Amino acid sequence: METTSTSLKAHVEVMGRIVELPLVVGTEQEVAIDGQQLRSETGAILLDPGFGNTGACMSKITFIDGERGILRYRGYPIEELATGAGFLEVASLLIHGELPNEAEFAAFEDEVRHHTMLHENYRRFFDALPMDAHPMPTCAAAIGALSTFYQGDLARDDVRTHVIRLIAKMPTIVAYSYKHSIGQPPVYPRNDLGYAANFLHMMFSTPCEPYRVDSVKARALERLLILHADHEQNCSTSTVRLVGSSNANLYASIAAGISALWGPLHGGANQEVIEMLTRIEAEGGDADAYVARARQRGDSTRLMGFGHRVYKNFDPRAVLLKHSCSELRDTMDVRSSRLLDIAFRLEEIALEDDYFIRRRLYPNVDFYSGILYLMLGIPVNLFTAMFALGRMPGWIAHWLEMKQDPSTRIGRPRQIYVGPTKRPYLPRPERS
Ligand code: ACO
Repeated sequence: METTSTSLKAHVEVMGRIVELPLVVGTEQEVAIDGQQLRSETGAILLDPGFGNTGACMSKITFIDGERGILRYRGYPIEELATGAGFLEVASLLIHGELPNEAEFAAFEDEVRHHTMLHENYRRFFDALPMDAHPMPTCAAAIGALSTFYQGDLARDDVRTHVIRLIAKMPTIVAYSYKHSIGQPPVYPRNDLGYAANFLHMMFSTPCEPYRVDSVKARALERLLILHADHEQNCSTSTVRLVGSSNANLYASIAAGISALWGPLHGGANQEVIEMLTRIEAEGGDADAYVARARQRGDSTRLMGFGHRVYKNFDPRAVLLKHSCSELRDTMDVRSSRLLDIAFRLEEIALEDDYFIRRRLYPNVDFYSGILYLMLGIPVNLFTAMFALGRMPGWIAHWLEMKQDPSTRIGRPRQIYVGPTKRPYLPRPERS
């Protein structure tokens, strides 16, 4: 992958030996020390738990400037995409690199529409799982299982059909997992509806009663999905790349990404935000007391939906979602509206609190997304699966980029061993 070439070098001194390492500069002037020769030149490795200072790849997909609150997909500001584009248009942009023209978009949309159905055997697949199964492992298993349904195609090199299948079938899988959890029959997709509208139809219509899709809600959902579509080398995307680097197929790699996203410190945070707001409401709505607990040393309480590894001033997605919440306030039910009031209050207190100011903790994308999902009628335990639905094009784009990059090697971090040094094995009776 090309970079801006530079004659600048970094000089690193390791135990008295100075080595010269090349610098790499990205198109937005981000600088990296190319450390590929560090170990062979010095015997030392870079220790960086959580990879906060480690660039694992070069990428043309998404640019984030956490200090300035900038997020761009393929160069386009998130604000412009969220207000002007549809989700499939953004998916096409992320996956193919350029915004599609009319003909390209029509072809992409048509392909997605015609791959929305799941193999009928999936009914038995869902039936085999407990009714109260969390939708994330269900979705991870269902996506992984796609590679058992399309084994022949996997042997071929043409990955496009797999890409289309993943974008097309993910809404059906998420909706099936919901229907299974409430004991209703799965609802087949309707290919005459748009992406978000079809998803709402599969979620909320039943064989005995159609569901009239509200266009305001469908548009709000498209915006949510766009805002979640990519976020460069986060935990789940790095997982997808890492798994894919072993030449695991696309479905297996994405299934791993879904599992990574499930964690409460990543995609699971939106569920935790609503649980936190609900708890605060049940305890009398005292937002001040909760914030006081979250900043208390020795108390593990965190203000969920606050803080981000990258954004240190604001998360532009949270700003857009807060705006959506305010716009849709009139259509909200009483519960969502009450939780929104508590969220506004928590944000207000935290943004003036020294603890949060010093640590540069601001609302992240999850702080307001949960309230919007509630407004759409999405149950809390499905929130993370909604995140996965939105993130699908980003995962795919990164997997494709990783495969097409000739410099890709199997991901294999090193470690510094701090366990016992060599010691003899003693038979069990001889151990004290
Ligand atoms: N509430 C209270 N304190 C916090 C919070 C929070 N939400 N987030 C961080 N802190 C504090 C930590 O206790 C730590 O304090 P210390 O320096 O006194 O020890 C300091 O801020 C730095 O926190 P780290 O956990 O080291 O920051 P890191 O960059 O590793 O973690 C993370 C970022 C995981 C997002 C963290 O802020 C967090 O747990 N937030 C809540 C969960 C959340 O909202 N996750 C969603 C992230 S967005 C996404 O994945 C889509």
